[in-house]
Amino acid sequence: MTNIRDIAAEAGVSVATASRALTGKGRVSAATVERVRAIAQRHRFQPNEIARSLSSGRSHSLGLLVPDITNPFFPELMAGAESAAKARGQTILLTAALGADSAREDLSVLRARGVDGFIVVGNPFDSAEQLREAAGSRPLVVVDRSESVTDLSTVVTDHVEGAALAVRHLIELGHTRIAHISGPPGLDVTDLRVAGYERELRAAGLEPRVVDGDFTVESGAAAVRALLDGPAAPSAITTANDLAAIGAMNAVLARGGSVPGDLSIVGYDDIVLAALVHPGLTTVAQDIGELGARAVEELERQLTGDTDVRTVSLSTSLVERGTTGRAS
Ligand code: RIB
Repeated sequence: MTNIRDIAAEAGVSVATASRALTGKGRVSAATVERVRAIAQRHRFQPNEIARSLSSGRSHSLGLLVPDITNPFFPELMAGAESAAKARGQTILLTAALGADSAREDLSVLRARGVDGFIVVGNPFDSAEQLREAAGSRPLVVVDRSESVTDLSTVVTDHVEGAALAVRHLIELGHTRIAHISGPPGLDVTDLRVAGYERELRAAGLEPRVVDGDFTVESGAAAVRALLDGPAAPSAITTANDLAAIGAMNAVLARGGSVPGDLSIVGYDDIVLAALVHPGLTTVAQDIGELGARAVEELERQLTGDTDVRTVSLSTSLVERGTTGRAS
């Protein structure tokens, strides 16, 4: 059975250096870290997790709470968090919780599992105090959605500017009748994207038109059918996320229409699927993996003693593909 001494001897370093290289703690050159970890991997060496936890007082696991794992955005966010966690010798324990009751239960289970801290998408409770209470004394970072979150560190993207990017793109293509299919009511991301859409349209002297959606494929299809069957049908739409945009695309094609010929569509997120549909979805890209990675970094910052409350805001960018074209 390979132990840390065997790893150190083969790597030509002290046991202390090998331990630092494997735990990511303390100063070790990148070359030494790479050499030690390669030897450990080759020997399938698993440092005694219990011993490590007892010595460090940490479980080296983080809890990640997301609202919905059926939306590709959240698994992609988890992938970014997991990559950053693994680089630090940590693991991510994922749970999907919709609503306060299931969130309270899941946070309690994760606390019992001894996670070192929590990353939560938005606040499933009515107040930051309730979230703080459910998380206990463990460090906490809120990612992506930050409504009703005060005095907690957050990692978000600029949703207002992201929505404005989509509108500017369509205006540059000559569209003047641009509608927006919104996200679910009550979320800050929904309101912020509507605000960015309306701000940009009004700045161009155009009339906003918002139709309710709920981030699902079905809501995008239903909304676009209502828009195209109604008066003054739009020549372009922006949607609050990619799934709604894909639903809208399907609805146009199902009625014999074409995208972007009959309707230009801009989504929001840039999930992997956005590049796989045909035509490829023009969308506002959030760096989803980076959101997860930065949330892990923020948690690590708190775990190593820096508990200042901080907001990290990531930018968005427009990814032009095939669902937008010049207004006819
Ligand atoms: O697609 C899911 C949406 O909910 C994303 O836009 C993300 O911002 C999350 O809040």
